[in-house]
Amino acid sequence: MTQDELKQAVAKAALDYILPKLEKDSIVGIGTGSTANYFIDALAEHQDLFDGAVSSSQTSEDRLKGHGIPVYDLNSTGSFEFYIDGADETNERLELIKGGGAALTREKIVAACAKEFICIADDSKMVDLLGAFPLPVEVIPMARSYVAREIVKLGGDPVYRDGVVTDNGGVILDVHNLAIKSPMELESKINQLTGVITNGLFALRPADTLLLGTKNGVQTLKAK
Ligand code: 5RP
Repeated sequence: MTQDELKQAVAKAALDYILPKLEKDSIVGIGTGSTANYFIDALAEHQDLFDGAVSSSQTSEDRLKGHGIPVYDLNSTGSFEFYIDGADETNERLELIKGGGAALTREKIVAACAKEFICIADDSKMVDLLGAFPLPVEVIPMARSYVAREIVKLGGDPVYRDGVVTDNGGVILDVHNLAIKSPMELESKINQLTGVITNGLFALRPADTLLLGTKNGVQTLKAK
């Protein structure tokens, strides 16, 4: 199976996972990226079973609306049952690196409001140690150089993602060469740097469920 086929398989598995639990007034939290796109397209076939969505990016919002799915302001929905999103890396504790699509801050906010965060990923994303994928850090533009210098002190090599401005008006530093042995500690440390909006470690609020696409089928893993 190709990576794309694995992404489609986990998107379908996520749909099968949530469909029996959806109610007419359900709001579904939606992530960003190619795997999330497959999920959006699959979800759109079942619009009669739920009310609408909250989105973690303008791109996903546009795709949802393109299917005719209502997209609500998170401030008006309160908490909701499910958030479904991809990841750039995951470990067995379902701690993640996210933000390859620069939507990390809104993804973290929507995940925080969900009772269950369901991560959907192909098995190339499963790692023993987080950090081979450069860790995205969203920064207030004027703080970019300062934050980069502070990240060097933490042992990382930050690279400015040239030309990218996030939905929040932030810029992205991709931090290379981190072997992340204590994800929760590093997530907190980087978030405490002045000028950081947030970083792409999802360890303080990891996924609850991982649907992992493998050539032998979709595995369901629960956070330990
Ligand atoms: C976007 C993300 C995505 O979930 C992550 O980059 C994975 O993307 P894809 O599903 O395209 O592999 O965090 O900010």
